[in-house]
Amino acid sequence: ASERPTQSGAAPILVASNRGPVSFRTEDDGTLSLRRGGGGLVSGLSAIDDPNAVWVCAALSDADRAAARQAPEGRLDRAGHDVGGQAVRMLDIDPETFARAYNGVANSTLWFVHHLLYDIPTKPAFDAGFRTEWAAYRAYNTAFAEALAAEAAPGAAVLVQDYHLSLVPALLRALRPDLRIGHFSHTPWAPPEYYRLLPDDVAAEVLEGILGADRAAFLTRRWALAFADCCEAVLGASVDRDALTVTLPQPSAGGAPIGRTTRLGVHGLGADGEFLRERAHRPDVDERLAALREAVGDRRTVVRVDRTELSKNIVRGLLAYRHLLRTRPEWLDRVVHIAFAYPSRTDLAEYREYTAEVQRLAAEINAEFATADWQPLILHVDDDFPRSLAAYRLADVALVNPVRDGMNLVAKEVPVVSDRGCALVLSREAGAHEELADDAITVNPFDVVATADALARALAMPPADRADRTERLAAAATALPPQQWFLDQLNAL
Ligand code: G6P
Repeated sequence: ASERPTQSGAAPILVASNRGPVSFRTEDDGTLSLRRGGGGLVSGLSAIDDPNAVWVCAALSDADRAAARQAPEGRLDRAGHDVGGQAVRMLDIDPETFARAYNGVANSTLWFVHHLLYDIPTKPAFDAGFRTEWAAYRAYNTAFAEALAAEAAPGAAVLVQDYHLSLVPALLRALRPDLRIGHFSHTPWAPPEYYRLLPDDVAAEVLEGILGADRAAFLTRRWALAFADCCEAVLGASVDRDALTVTLPQPSAGGAPIGRTTRLGVHGLGADGEFLRERAHRPDVDERLAALREAVGDRRTVVRVDRTELSKNIVRGLLAYRHLLRTRPEWLDRVVHIAFAYPSRTDLAEYREYTAEVQRLAAEINAEFATADWQPLILHVDDDFPRSLAAYRLADVALVNPVRDGMNLVAKEVPVVSDRGCALVLSREAGAHEELADDAITVNPFDVVATADALARALAMPPADRADRTERLAAAATALPPQQWFLDQLNAL
């Protein structure tokens, strides 16, 4: 942290996230073209109609970095790009530092910790290489804190997003004590006994980084309380579980001020019902729906759509489907499993191997059961949003079985979009389960046999029951749409 406060900027509201609302691509002729991203945060921010709001994000590719360098004062809107009314400042962080921070710390370490993904006998092992990555993570967080400090108007509200940026709140507070700072975790939070796999200083610095915020918010109460448990166990903080506050009682390793209290918040992000219903009935979706119908015929469908992500538990889902076909011959030739697993974090070997494992198992299932006119499993490992919406519409059963998930928006989107009502098989380890348990069929995601049983129950659910449940699921799923979710956080800050 610098000694003197940074000069302030003009933005009254700021959002910071690793992945921003836009990305760039270099076309064959060398020009840069822009794509707008989706997701809750993008539609959430659209509720703010303040021309001075700024979204600070990282350049994620060479094309992004080129766009960031061309933009006057680093602001993409001024470079003539249509970024949908938002001023976006993309940080041109050097690629090596970025890769260490994003792949090494954020996605291979913090994501693994919060989703309980390590193969404990050999991993993690925090060696000298990790220390280099940790230094890069600090540098990357510092770059964000400095950019936010420069853009923020006096007393501005800053909403910092996710595990990539856990050090930003404390770093930013040191630069700009006048700001109101919020942090939002889109992931689960690990229980203390697992969180303490991290090196002690790293474990403390991450918590103190977030506690630099006035308010640290989570998707469910379960994750907020786990965070509080970690603050207590690692930092000796005092926690009020009713008022949801965490107070640092002593000077801590990172020198955080004595007695500062951080409020915890819970905002269960919901699906954007209005957007989804409209988007799911456009011609490009209809076209893909027709193709899927052709392949499925009059058979029932079990649908899943995920990033190809370790925590989504795609492999055990496929094993459950295989068990269903092996043990319940009445479903042979009467069901098709549609599994869309789009590419994610392919820089990491674990993710590449996981994708290969999903493909291998899918091929095995088709080889075991397929007949001349029945393909029991349709797997796609590329990204096609309209095709995903088409699958939602066609779903008789949605399978959402993560080993652990901050929320899981697929569980909330399918009931909204499904044409005929659809039974939801839902892991009790997904944040969404807190809100959808009453009308979903709950599964322990590790229990393959129980998951197969749940699929059988879901497939056999009477249509009237299914329709009633879907209606209630859709209502619960859209209770807090992204715009309101965003405004609630801002107001609470
Ligand atoms: C999760 C995280 C987000 C992240 C997204 C996609 O939902 O909470 O912060 O953007 O995964 O992951 P990626 O690494 O592609 O940004």
